[in-house]
Amino acid sequence: MQRHKGRRVLITGAGNGIGMAAACFFAGEGARLCLVDVDAGALAATLDKLPPGTEALSHAVSVTDEVAIAGVVDAMVAAYGGIDAVVNSAGVVVVEPALEARIDIFREVIEVNLVGTWIVCQAAARHMVKAGSGAIVNISSVYGFQGAPSRTAYCASKGGVVNLTNSLAVEWGPLGIRVNSVAPTGTRTPMVQGLIDRGIYDVDAVSRRTPLRRIAEPEEVAAACGFLVGDEAGMTTGHHLAVDGGWLANGFLMAPKAGA
Ligand SMILES: NC(=O)c1ccc[n+]([C@@H]2O[C@H](COP(=O)([O-])OP(=O)(O)OC[C@H]3O[C@@H](n4cnc5c(N)ncnc54)[C@H](O)[C@@H]3O)[C@@H](O)[C@H]2O)c1
Repeated sequence: MQRHKGRRVLITGAGNGIGMAAACFFAGEGARLCLVDVDAGALAATLDKLPPGTEALSHAVSVTDEVAIAGVVDAMVAAYGGIDAVVNSAGVVVVEPALEARIDIFREVIEVNLVGTWIVCQAAARHMVKAGSGAIVNISSVYGFQGAPSRTAYCASKGGVVNLTNSLAVEWGPLGIRVNSVAPTGTRTPMVQGLIDRGIYDVDAVSRRTPLRRIAEPEEVAAACGFLVGDEAGMTTGHHLAVDGGWLANGFLMAPKAGA
C-alpha cells in the first residue's frame, strides 16, 4: 500500500523511537520526508533504515531553534514544492520529585516539548496556509490528560500540547489545516528504556494497569499518525487519539500480580 505516496511529511524527533517509526512508516507508504533531530548520529541511523529510493532530507537541529526550524521548512518547500504534513515527536522526559525539581530543568522540558512543538507547527502552517491544506500531528501523551508523581514538567508540557492542539485546530480549521494529537501510553522506545535502566519505570506494573496488559510499540503510534495525516481523517481535527491499550478508560485497580 502506498497510501501516502508523494505526500511531503516533516517529522521531528526522527532519530529514535516514535519519530523513527513514523519515518519508516511514511517512507514505506511512499511519502517524501524531511527529518529533524538534535542528534545527528541518530538521524543518520534512521536514514539507513528507510527503504531504498526514499526521498529524505535531514537536518540536525533543535526544535527550540525557531530560526533553524524556519530554515528547515523553507528548504523542504524549496526541494519538494510544499509541505503536506508534520509529525511532532521530538520530546524529553525528566523524573524528579516536585519539591526538588530544578527550575532550569522545568523550563527545558517545557521549551522542548511545548515551545518546540509550537515553533514547528507555526513554521509549517505558514506554508500550508498558502496551499489551503495540511495536517499536523503532535505526539502528546496519556500524561497530557492525567497527572503523575515526579513528572510535573512532563505532564505540564503534555497538557500544554493537548490544548495547543485544540487551539490551533480551532484557529486553522477554516484555513484548511487539521491539527490533532496522538496520545501514547508507555511505548517501547529509548526514552522508556532509559527509565527502565534507571529502575524508575516498571513495565509489569504499567501492563497490569492497562486493559490490553502490555505497553505500546512505536510502530503502533506511527500507524495512528498515518491515519490522522491521511485522507480518511479529512473530517478529524482537534482530536486526541489515545494509543494506550485502554489506559485512559480505566479508572479501576491494577490486575493482581500473576500468582497473587
Ligand atoms: N515512549 C513513551 O512511552 C511515550 C509515551 C507518551 C508520549 N511520548 C512522546 O513521544 C515523543 C517521542 O518519544 P520517544 O519515546 O520516541 O522518545 P525518544 O527519546 O526515544 O526519541 C525522541 C527523539 O527526540 C529527539 N529530541 C530531543 N530533544 C530534541 C530537540 N530539542 N530537537 C530535536 N529533536 C529532539 C531525541 O534526540 C530523540 O531522537 C515524545 O514527545 C514523548 O514525550 C512517549
